[in-house]
Amino acid sequence: MKKQYKWAKLGFTAVLSLGVLAACGTATDNDDDTATGSDENAETTKIVMGTSADYPPYESLDLETEEIIGFDIDIAKHITDELGYELEIQDMNFDSLIPALQNNRVDFVMAGMTPTEERKKNVDFSDAYYAANNYLVFQSDNEWTSVDELEGKNIGVQLGSIQEEAADELAELHGFEVNKLNRIPEIIQELNTGRIDAILMEDMVAEGYIESQNLKFFPVETDEETSNAIAFPKDSEYTEEFNEVLVDMIESGKIDELIEKWFYSEE
Ligand code: ARG
Repeated sequence: MKKQYKWAKLGFTAVLSLGVLAACGTATDNDDDTATGSDENAETTKIVMGTSADYPPYESLDLETEEIIGFDIDIAKHITDELGYELEIQDMNFDSLIPALQNNRVDFVMAGMTPTEERKKNVDFSDAYYAANNYLVFQSDNEWTSVDELEGKNIGVQLGSIQEEAADELAELHGFEVNKLNRIPEIIQELNTGRIDAILMEDMVAEGYIESQNLKFFPVETDEETSNAIAFPKDSEYTEEFNEVLVDMIESGKIDELIEKWFYSEE
């Protein structure tokens, strides 16, 4: 049986959802008024997560429920449930996430974010919860198998991502142009309309688009590791307790279950 990426459809609908992505929150509805009983401790602390919901299957907008869903969201829900916090999610462009942490506008970030040395100067990270790789993705009428063949081509990347940095470095060696855009569905659209020739992006995100839009790819080695971790403001009170629950999830197999659910489910 062919392995189907469960969210392939999601990747496609996300292209259509560009207009409604802005400022979409999924604050839960148990505000102070209807707290159960009169127990003083019943009021829970609200904790705000920043994300860039353009990244299925990590995070994207479910058009039916208008909620942000995905691998990162399930992890965030599990951790905040365990710790007894009420989770609110704020959607923004990827390159606004680190500034939002620095200004304490959000308490933590989950966005398939890679804990790079550069970012560690400005924010703290949890342990890594997933190891990703990079793919170069393009239309199926091309036969490319390596970056050497891309001279003079136009490569799309997400603004502020490690793929932007990697593409800039590769561009110097291989003589291609780098096109930087905010949201992944936008970049896919640029590819579909032929304004760019290829996209450098993370494997699990690429897989769904490759399947739903019939694209081709080859893996690209980059200098820096592409793992994903949770980010916090420097010296945040939350880092340690979040990391404890995350490590439990890794050791107990809970993360593997979620990897299976979001990355590899068969239809
Ligand atoms: N892992 C890459 C990075 O940290 C890309 C993450 C993009 N995430 C997103 N939600 N769009 O730069």
